Amino acid sequence: MWALRVVIVFAAAIVLAAGAFFFLAWRSEIPEDAAAAQATFAPELVAKGAQLAALGNCIACHTVPGKPAFAGGLAVPTPFGTIYSTNITPDPETGIGGWSEKAFQRAMNEGVDRKGSHLYPAFPYDHFTRVSVEDNRALYAFLMTRPAVKAEAPRNDLPFPLTYRPLLAAWKLAFFDRGEMEPDSSQSEAWTRGRYLVEGLGHCGACHTPRNAFGAEDRDHYFGGGEAEGWQAYAINKDSKAPIPWDEQSLAFYLRNGWHEFHGVSRGPMAEVTGNLSALPDSDIMAIATYVTSIMGDATPERGQRAAQLREQFEGDYREQAADSQSSPVNASGGSPGEAIYVAACASCHEGQRRQPFGGLNFDLSTAVNAPNPQNIVNVVLFGLPPADGEASAVMPAFRHLLSDQQVADVLTYMRERFSEEQPWAGLVDLIANTRSGAHKVTIRPSDGIERAPHNVGAEEG
Ligand code: HEC
Ligand code: HEC
Ligand code: HEC
Repeated sequence: MWALRVVIVFAAAIVLAAGAFFFLAWRSEIPEDAAAAQATFAPELVAKGAQLAALGNCIACHTVPGKPAFAGGLAVPTPFGTIYSTNITPDPETGIGGWSEKAFQRAMNEGVDRKGSHLYPAFPYDHFTRVSVEDNRALYAFLMTRPAVKAEAPRNDLPFPLTYRPLLAAWKLAFFDRGEMEPDSSQSEAWTRGRYLVEGLGHCGACHTPRNAFGAEDRDHYFGGGEAEGWQAYAINKDSKAPIPWDEQSLAFYLRNGWHEFHGVSRGPMAEVTGNLSALPDSDIMAIATYVTSIMGDATPERGQRAAQLREQFEGDYREQAADSQSSPVNASGGSPGEAIYVAACASCHEGQRRQPFGGLNFDLSTAVNAPNPQNIVNVVLFGLPPADGEASAVMPAFRHLLSDQQVADVLTYMRERFSEEQPWAGLVDLIANTRSGAHKVTIRPSDGIERAPHNVGAEEG
């Protein structure tokens, strides 16, 4: 008898919990709005939406390279499986043509689609939830005035039970903090604007903050370094490994131009980010720099001292002087195999006469050789930096057909030893082999951020 009672109470508890869960998980369908795709919008609103869409990088995730813009279908890899972005053109059947503004606002704010299904956080609504109603209105106007494209996204490749979307309600309960941020009256207007752009549409943390086992950003290590498309998105908080610490000026310059003389060129997914940021006015770029450097904080005295030396060494025309004095690598200690490769294959560009952005960065200034994980150097060495379409850009040859896994490992080991004070990297050969074979997938993009580089810098050397 007693046992039966326990069973009944237990069963009732489960039913109640399930009921509560479904109540929580359930979202209503917002009726289709047949007229939505035909609506007209003020041109200023559409123009503002275009800027915001660039900041949000909507096009990067919602477009397959070479296919029509915003038509979706791009595979977004996650540790759990592959999720395909959807068609966000105003096609009524396969896109968002039947979505009212209300449905769009809800998708951005809550991560729920028009029919009421929960969306996967591969769509960064944990950031987009911070976006204001007015800005979402402009985004909606922009998207609804794009050409409609008929295109169905492939089915997601996820293991059961992750295919079951109501489960996402539990994820949201645990990790999703919905809505706009509280104003902080102790901060400047620029900082507040910067925070809004960074936390919201800019979604810098989606790549730069590490994720926990459930794929949610680990706010205790905010900006502590994450991963995107097979690249390391470096720490951009107090753990930044940039030899010369970022400051407001250098960060704003890098975000505006896609390179900086002390930091090199933005690569991989970051090239797309800096390319897109060109749509923003200078004041917004500066606001982003103000906010992000406030997160970085002041450099330790030690780091500051080292940076002062480096600055002195690398400011201005150091390259011409270096060439005059016929510099050869220090540590010419009779030569490890890595050193021989470095001298033969890398030094001419990376210690040569061309200035940034077209010359290679001197590795004394490199975040990459100081990073805890060597993935980005491996990517750059194997695949190079392809030229941007039809314009002068930073170009580096790919070495995958010239150097074996062991040779790449040797040169990286040498560089780590010579240019960094960090511990040697472990497991290089495996990492290089996996990257070469495609077991570790990497997206390679031309450094299109570079098109905003001043034309007089190095261009005449063509
Ligand atoms: C990091 C990649 C990424 C970025 C950046 C991104 N999206 Fe998405 N988006 C996705 C993915 C993946 C989905 C599909 C999610 C799912 O199926 O649950 C999606 C879904 C959506 C949906 C739901 C569409 C539907 O039919 O259910 C909307 C609306 C949307 N995105 C709008 C935007 C807008 C607007 C931006 C830019 C401000 C943007 N997205 C930026 C990856 C992205
Ligand atoms: C789609 C992913 C992604 C997003 C979004 C993103 N980043 Fe990055 N970021 C990266 C990657 C990857 C790198 C490393 C690229 C490289 O090797 O040059 C990087 C590099 C950087 C660097 C250079 C760090 C150093 O020490 O060299 C800075 C600064 C930076 N990002 C700032 C930002 C800011 C600010 C935002 C938001 C406006 C942002 N990023 C958004 C992926 C991203
Ligand atoms: C033909 C010239 C050229 C050669 C040869 C070359 N590079 Fe580069 N490399 C570049 C340019 C240009 C860039 C982009 C500017 C920048 O950020 O340094 C670059 C960027 C890099 C970066 C990213 C910068 C950083 O440290 O964050 C790494 C790493 C790199 N190269 C490694 C190598 C290695 C290793 C070799 C030799 C195996 C090599 N490069 C040979 C021109 C070259």
